Amino acid sequence: MTALHIGNVKIKNPFILAPLANFTDLPFRILCRKYGVALAVTEMIDAEGIFHDKYKIKEEFTNVKEDRPISAQIVGSNPDAMVYSAKALQKEGADIIDINMGCPSFKLSKKGAGAKILDNIELIHKIVTLTVKSVKIPVTVKIRAGWNDDKNAVKIAKTIEKAGASAITIHARTGKMKFRGKADWTIIKKIKKAVKIPVIGNGDVRSAEDAIDMLKKTGCDFVMIGRASVGNPFIFRECLHYFKSNKLLKPATPGERRDAFLELWNISKKYYEPEFSRFKLYSYGFTKTLKGGKFFREKISNTKTLDELKELIENSFVGM
Ligand SMILES: Cc1cc2nc3c(=O)[nH]c(=O)nc-3n(C[C@H](O)[C@H](O)[C@H](O)COP(=O)(O)O)c2cc1C
Repeated sequence: MTALHIGNVKIKNPFILAPLANFTDLPFRILCRKYGVALAVTEMIDAEGIFHDKYKIKEEFTNVKEDRPISAQIVGSNPDAMVYSAKALQKEGADIIDINMGCPSFKLSKKGAGAKILDNIELIHKIVTLTVKSVKIPVTVKIRAGWNDDKNAVKIAKTIEKAGASAITIHARTGKMKFRGKADWTIIKKIKKAVKIPVIGNGDVRSAEDAIDMLKKTGCDFVMIGRASVGNPFIFRECLHYFKSNKLLKPATPGERRDAFLELWNISKKYYEPEFSRFKLYSYGFTKTLKGGKFFREKISNTKTLDELKELIENSFVGM
């Protein structure tokens, strides 16, 4: 496999774990790396929160060697706050800074941040230029096809390249679509044709076949996978296998799923006390495709403590 790079950071294969708030924390990222993911991105970090000392950088970002290379994602619309938090994350050991210009939440859009910033090309240019100048590590930007329509997606991508970014991730939906409708991969293809920096395609990749399809149809350099990885870190080993051999791997067995869930538990314990609400969410993901999974998920929702949840997984998972 030819070496891939984002700026000067070597990326060992084309498969990237997307940032997913409430899911892709340090333990989950480490788990996905065991199944081959080449690069992971942190959950979004509120730049204003860091700038105004509301959040502590060490609580938002932990640098460990099992989680490298790591891209730290910041979100906001205040250039000073973006520069400040990018510098702070560089100091903490981030390999890449990713700027979130894709989150469609009301909380961010009312401040002109996240995907709403796609309506403000001057601010995009300013934030990317200043952030790139302020750090030595590569800066990447994650966008959508536009806020309301996709007519200026290529212009936005060119602006981001001109401002010095090292790669662009494109989630091929508009902000207004949120997660509804189908991702339009033709936008990824158009952006790939328009810029020279690496393009990371994203949106609706649910299997190894989808991932390779996206690489072939759009010409993108990397594929980023989000929702399909939740409870299914195996998707990365499946992508890699199919990419290298053109042969599909069998899906993970119930036993492997249970073991991966318990492994996630053990990784979490190493760093911090597993959070009940997060683990409940993970449990739904890990049982999603299993026979009898619906019955099992009802049992999960009735658990009241972490220990109950862990016991349930340990005892009932295999053989479903
Ligand atoms: C629960 C959830 C949380 C997300 N959190 C983030 C985030 O923190 N930063 C970001 O850039 N995108 C975030 N996204 C968007 C994903 O990174 C990704 O762009 C989107 O889910 C489309 O990819 P997929 O079809 O592979 O899931 C989130 C999506 C979901 C469903």
